[in-house]
Amino acid sequence: MVDTKTQYHKIKEEVDAAVIAVMESSRFIGGQVVTDFAASLAAYHGSKHVIPCANGTDALQIAMMALGLRAGDEVITPSFTYIATVEVAALLGIKPIFIEVDMATFCMDVNAIEKAITPKTKAIVPVHLYGHAADMEPIMAIAKKHNLYVIEDNAQGIGNDYIFSDGSKKKTGTIGHIGCTSFYPSKNLGAYGDGGAMFTDDDALAEKMKMIASHGQSRQYYHDVVGCNSRLDAMQAAILNIKLKKLDEYIAARRKAADYYDAAFAGNDKMTTPFRAANNSHVFHQYTLTLHGVDRDALNKFLAENGVPSMIYYPVPAHKQKMFDIFEDMSFNLPITDWLTERVISLPMHTELEEEQQAFIVGKVLEFALKVNS
Ligand SMILES: Cc1ncc(COP(=O)(O)O)c(C=O)c1O
Repeated sequence: MVDTKTQYHKIKEEVDAAVIAVMESSRFIGGQVVTDFAASLAAYHGSKHVIPCANGTDALQIAMMALGLRAGDEVITPSFTYIATVEVAALLGIKPIFIEVDMATFCMDVNAIEKAITPKTKAIVPVHLYGHAADMEPIMAIAKKHNLYVIEDNAQGIGNDYIFSDGSKKKTGTIGHIGCTSFYPSKNLGAYGDGGAMFTDDDALAEKMKMIASHGQSRQYYHDVVGCNSRLDAMQAAILNIKLKKLDEYIAARRKAADYYDAAFAGNDKMTTPFRAANNSHVFHQYTLTLHGVDRDALNKFLAENGVPSMIYYPVPAHKQKMFDIFEDMSFNLPITDWLTERVISLPMHTELEEEQQAFIVGKVLEFALKVNS
């Protein structure tokens, strides 16, 4: 699905030197390298604060803790997402209220939000799934009207420019009260290990998240709140600092690969290619087809047998995961989510895809779809 090895070889000299410099410094946790990366990432995003942490899952948990969300509260979130978005809520005893996604963008259906609000609702958690932006302008308006927080799950959307109706732009992850992202190796900005970060323009929230990520300490050995241990290590920060300079180039490569797929599958009634709303710059963390009348799991198997990786993101929507049995009254009727879950398939998408490889992938997908047709 990804080719991090070829990508690494193109920046090997710089990365190797940066990693060795960290080892020579013996400053493995925190320090200038991590501070520099946080500053560069904040500048790239036009965000006042970036707080690095150990992974994207922790980022979401720390965000919820910093906003004072607690057991018994509710958060509104799509069910069509990676489990991390909502697992952390459950961990804190916060009940996820699952809503539908928009069939075209795969992101939270903004028309479903208000119907899900109860007196217990504290936050909305939109997910920029597959790299397409959730429709943040109406989401922020609803949040303001009902006095709710917005935590953006930007693990898959880093680098996306969301365009407001007045023409102004903001990076996804910087529109809500807090944005969270992941540097998991396959992400658009991927480390060579785990990593994550929180974004905010709010000074007090930034301080609180910094504190929570560091055992709740305000200064060494003085622990003011219950926190956790969530640190980005210096080697990952050094690597990410190099890769951040290439992020726009990497996104452009993904978009080019998406253009190729789009053109190759255009007009085929067996599949819908990913929609790109005009108010965002889809960063194609995934290239995901929606199939019509094609056995998705059989295609997945056929591709594997022919040397083409493909993935189902995600075979079971969050609202059907057993883990949420811990909550009472968790039955949600989400037919669009269920429908998509049975029909989506993601094809290889990364910065190193060559046309020859894509031609082979497309050929195999079409071979299967045509066989079904005949
Ligand atoms: C949408 C989404 N949210 C959260 C996460 C969690 O990130 P991490 O794996 O770094 O904990 C991921 C990635 O795995 C993700 O895709």
